Amino acid sequence: MQFFLDTAQLAEIEQAAAWGILDGVTTNPSLMAKAGVRDFAAHYQAIARLTPGPVSAEVIGVSYADMVAEGRQLASLAPNIVVKIPFLPDGVRAIRTLSAEGIRTNCTLIFSPIQALIAAKAGATYLSPFVGRLDDIGHEGMALVRTIRQLLDTYKLPAKLLAASLRHPRHVLEAALAGADCATMPFAVMQQLFSHPLTEKGLAQFLADYAQLQSHA
Ligand code: E4P
Repeated sequence: MQFFLDTAQLAEIEQAAAWGILDGVTTNPSLMAKAGVRDFAAHYQAIARLTPGPVSAEVIGVSYADMVAEGRQLASLAPNIVVKIPFLPDGVRAIRTLSAEGIRTNCTLIFSPIQALIAAKAGATYLSPFVGRLDDIGHEGMALVRTIRQLLDTYKLPAKLLAASLRHPRHVLEAALAGADCATMPFAVMQQLFSHPLTEKGLAQFLADYAQLQSHA
């Protein structure tokens, strides 16, 4: 499973790339606003330079014509840009058009298996089911990831399953067990993947024992 960072913060992307575990980045208009981005095009190019894999850049328009025009423009910014399009009737149509032109797309805001099936049939490269937001309203978000996996396998659809809106390391593990191709997560969650109290305790003990040995030498 590939590890994507869900952020528009360049410092976070740089750090995750330095760890060597960064496979891609996803952004959305809220994350861009949170990062205080003014020049979206330049910022996407900066993210694309730092990322050793796909970078999802979301359209703002909601009409077919706007999404297609914006999608073409975003795709021209860097070779690793993937155009993120919301699941809407016009969005699905835009995915079909962009995909016929060889432009990779990520269908976002997926909350049901049928939405995922429709987007996959339209040619979406990635499908983004939002796990955490479903959990927030009392559903089991990960069940959606499992069902989409089944649909993609049953119909041999090539769309990649990108588990999104992940809130903690357990979500990341569950996405991997559910057969997600990629998991996108906030920086804090990626950072948490490294930590285990027994690893920290074990290392502290190793270093203490070594220091004691040195003091007797
Ligand atoms: C997906 O690509 C979205 O950017 C993201 O995962 C949404 O997460 P949130 O529900 O934590 O905002």
